[in-house]
Amino acid sequence: MFYYNNDILSADGISLKDIATHFGTPTYVYSEKSISDNSSYFKKINNINLTVCYAVKANSNLSILNLMNRYGFGFDVVSIGELLRVKKINADISKCIFSGVGKKDDEIETALKLGIHSLNVENMGEFERINKIAKSLNLIANIMIRINPNISVDTHPFITTALDNSKFGISHSLIREAIKLCKRLKNTNLIGISFHLGSQIKEIGPYIEGLQILLDIRKMFKEDYDIIINKLDIGGGLGVAYSKNDTIFPIDDFIKRVNEVFSKASTDDKTISDIELILEPGRSMVANSAVLLSKVIAKKKAGDKNFLIVDAAMNDLIRPILYNAQHQVKTVNLISNDNTKTYDIVGPICESSDVLGKNIDLQVGINEYIAIYDTGAYCSSMSSNYNSRTLPAEVMIKDGNIHLIREREKHEDLWRNERII
Ligand code: LLP
Repeated sequence: MFYYNNDILSADGISLKDIATHFGTPTYVYSEKSISDNSSYFKKINNINLTVCYAVKANSNLSILNLMNRYGFGFDVVSIGELLRVKKINADISKCIFSGVGKKDDEIETALKLGIHSLNVENMGEFERINKIAKSLNLIANIMIRINPNISVDTHPFITTALDNSKFGISHSLIREAIKLCKRLKNTNLIGISFHLGSQIKEIGPYIEGLQILLDIRKMFKEDYDIIINKLDIGGGLGVAYSKNDTIFPIDDFIKRVNEVFSKASTDDKTISDIELILEPGRSMVANSAVLLSKVIAKKKAGDKNFLIVDAAMNDLIRPILYNAQHQVKTVNLISNDNTKTYDIVGPICESSDVLGKNIDLQVGINEYIAIYDTGAYCSSMSSNYNSRTLPAEVMIKDGNIHLIREREKHEDLWRNERII
């Protein structure tokens, strides 16, 4: 599961070259089947009371959200823009969680008006703000406290979020104060506690450590404050294999370990079975479902480097340069008989950080196409218009048919909201 799989698209019987010639490049190509396969790992878990909220930030294309909705998942959003996307596909807003380190008043208001399931509170001031806004709307806001468990995970520093000195969550030392505050506020209803450790996590241990902390806090809530908390949200972060060398854990092992923790805890607490576990997976749902297709524009030798200059760039795919991420690259339908060389694959953007892959062995000719693999998560959703480049087209293969799910942006779109003075 969630493994790098370069057969997934060819298994759909579709020629990537045809897609490239028909839709142009760069283009993201998604496989509905692989998203559906990923979702099934979560759907088949039945030995635990599990709620899955897909993290919209991983890929927020409406067609992808629509799939998640059809699979029966809720959503984890971090902005009103994300929540309105979910509303746009007519999903049930009462299955959405609003996380985020800096929610604005108008975002809180809109989320409450739309009937959000709950808001994950990340700083002390937010409790009172939510309470005030809920009071003005004459309703009670469900909230969960996002704690910062101070757990280190082995991933890129930009995507670790649960260390004491990070901007996320409420520190352990403030939890009692937070509980007392919640008890005093009349328009908030504390229903759960949460954490999010980071992203691309490849070990189960940190989750188990975090879950134990949540259980301890739950116990303290009950014993010291007479508050019953049954929703434990352990965030997202499940890692995927971007290469054959990446070892990741199967979801079944993860659930088995969670169950062990629960059964141990239930020997002296019979209410453990009332717990609803919430997961917010993003990457693991979609990363391996897509390739980014790009055309080779030129080749160039400079010093000891062979550059392959392609028409995708860091604005389309920022992960390699931002997180040092390595995505597999393959040639699509080789025709030329150019020799295999070791390339740095770069785009046309005017800075040296515009790198999509380093030291990649490829046999490819000019005007031929390459596919950059496992680009379903945090690729399209992190793209930008830098260098006034239009955003790529996105297509999805479903039941052997190719569907356009996002038109290539037009040049007029680039200045649509600008005014000349
Ligand atoms: N829940 C919360 C509160 C989050 O902040 C995130 C991701 C998730 C869930 C989903 O995590 P996932 O299952 O996707 O790992 N742009 C980076 C990843 C940033 C993750 C941000 N938060 C990348 O391309 O690696």
